[in-house]
Amino acid sequence: MTANFSVLLIETDCVETQVQKIMLTPEKFKVIHKTDSTSAWNFLREVNILDLIIFNINTPNSSFFSISYEKLLDSINSQYQLRNVPIILITDASMSTKEVLQKIAKKSDAIILSPFNPIRFMKEVNRLVTKGIGLHIEEIHEQHMSLAKRINQLMELTGESKDIVHKIEQVMILKQLTFEHFDMEESYMLSHNYPDYQQHYDNHDVMRNTLRMLLKNPQERINKGEIENFYRSMFNDLSDDEQYIHFLDEIKITEI
Ligand SMILES: [Fe+2]
Ligand SMILES: [Fe+2]
Repeated sequence: MTANFSVLLIETDCVETQVQKIMLTPEKFKVIHKTDSTSAWNFLREVNILDLIIFNINTPNSSFFSISYEKLLDSINSQYQLRNVPIILITDASMSTKEVLQKIAKKSDAIILSPFNPIRFMKEVNRLVTKGIGLHIEEIHEQHMSLAKRINQLMELTGESKDIVHKIEQVMILKQLTFEHFDMEESYMLSHNYPDYQQHYDNHDVMRNTLRMLLKNPQERINKGEIENFYRSMFNDLSDDEQYIHFLDEIKITEI
């Protein structure tokens, strides 16, 4: 069985880390382990699909060009793709003053004092992975609403206006938003090991080609009939998306 959730673990290699890796069972979790914030920083520059970040802020930096835990957290919270990824911060109980805890509370979704209770740890993991999936589903719905609005506007425009330049501009915007939306869905589907990924990708590809063709021959193609066809394809894709959302719902409520 393949893991559905990707977790970035930032912590020195120690006994506690080994315990966490055992608790984050490989059937459910793909654990990417970085032993300091600098290597985590480098990793996050390349990867932006994650379901959870677990970060022990007392992890010492091993490299000369080190990045503080605060800088790393600020960077995660400010990146568009990462801003919804839940963060659990682990900190040594003996080193954490009230001021430190107040400060880091604003930058995370949960704080766990070390040494920690494994049951509490897994409860937080479960809660936050579920929360993150919920935010992802919300994001998909929001993007669908804005795409539907765009296509509706374009249908009205093709019925009323003869201004081809304006129509081309609107199709270019629709193309950009659609491509970004499909990229996001496909990246998450791959990351979550969605079993119907390939079929979904192929359907997306047909729609990507339709948009390319509209812009290749705008005088002939950008008309009400073509846009209505595109709208129907988008509508079919929405019902395919519902299957993916159902899959996410199923995996998030199972015991993890
Ligand atoms: Fe979609
Ligand atoms: Fe889709």
